[in-house]
Amino acid sequence: MLLPRPRGRLTSALLEALRSDDASALAAAPATAPADPVADDDLQLALWVCFELHYRGFDDVSDSWEWQPKLIALRAELESMMLSALRRDLTVEVRGNTMAERLQAVVEAYDGPQLSRFMQTQASREQFAEFVIHRSIYQLKEADPHSWAIPRLAGKVKAALVEIQADEYGGGDPNRMHSELFRKLLRGFGLDDEYGGYLDEAPGITLAISNIMSVFGLRRDLRGALVGHLAAYEMTSSGPCRRYAKGLRRLGATEATCQFYDAHVVADALHEQLAAHDLCGALAESEPGLAGDVLFGAAACLHIDNRFAEHVLGCWADDRPSLLPRSASHDLESAAGTALSQAL
Ligand SMILES: [Fe+2]
Ligand SMILES: [Fe+2]
Repeated sequence: MLLPRPRGRLTSALLEALRSDDASALAAAPATAPADPVADDDLQLALWVCFELHYRGFDDVSDSWEWQPKLIALRAELESMMLSALRRDLTVEVRGNTMAERLQAVVEAYDGPQLSRFMQTQASREQFAEFVIHRSIYQLKEADPHSWAIPRLAGKVKAALVEIQADEYGGGDPNRMHSELFRKLLRGFGLDDEYGGYLDEAPGITLAISNIMSVFGLRRDLRGALVGHLAAYEMTSSGPCRRYAKGLRRLGATEATCQFYDAHVVADALHEQLAAHDLCGALAESEPGLAGDVLFGAAACLHIDNRFAEHVLGCWADDRPSLLPRSASHDLESAAGTALSQAL
């Protein structure tokens, strides 16, 4: 993957520093946070690029940048802006006796726009292709951010997380890795299945879905939030995935194209139990001080996903694309129009 295009003052300086291998070109974080850090295109892209140095990196950036002190300091400032906005905007309802019950209450409190119902019953092929492009930002690295928690946990909490993650990574079969199943989905739409292939088109709120997992994942002090995030993700996956699969079949998709969602209908029905009880429940018992963070992580997951759904459905209601203007190399119209009609 190559560095993306800049989107503002922050990313212009950051990308220039990375490209020229010159840390002195890095700009300091802005003195005040943007009005809406969670959806800010410039801030979220800067965070995504900083985090990516810990995952696969960029072909045009030296791997030695991963722990560059000035870049880490900049990233920490941007993370704080995102976390402060979330702590300000989120209400975490504490209802129920057990951690699993409390997580369920958070899930119910954040019951948001029904994007999956729209995709099931109404979305056009072009809209489904657009949705899949948004999702590719995280799904092509599916499960990686939550793996950061493994060395930070112990005993049955660690065992529960490893059980979930082993499934996400295909149980030893690379063809069953969930990220690989997502690549089949992209190919079914005639889209680019390369990791990060649509980074330039992803708006801030789409990047935030991926970034919040990295914020939690790379900070040991937020390990409770990371597992809470995973629980909320798993607890709200099986039903929507069933609807996405139905939407794909309504559009005439092949079995291979539907496999990603079909697999999640089954897998996440189990993962949700593991995550709520064996992972978060056991963590709250062994480290009670983390219980509040578990619920915060769950609420952050659902809040950002609701904002993403509002963005996408709002754009479509106004007959506007929900992606940033595409580059010539990713012509969505030709991908969704020509290839879809052949492949689906
Ligand atoms: Fe998965
Ligand atoms: Fe899962």
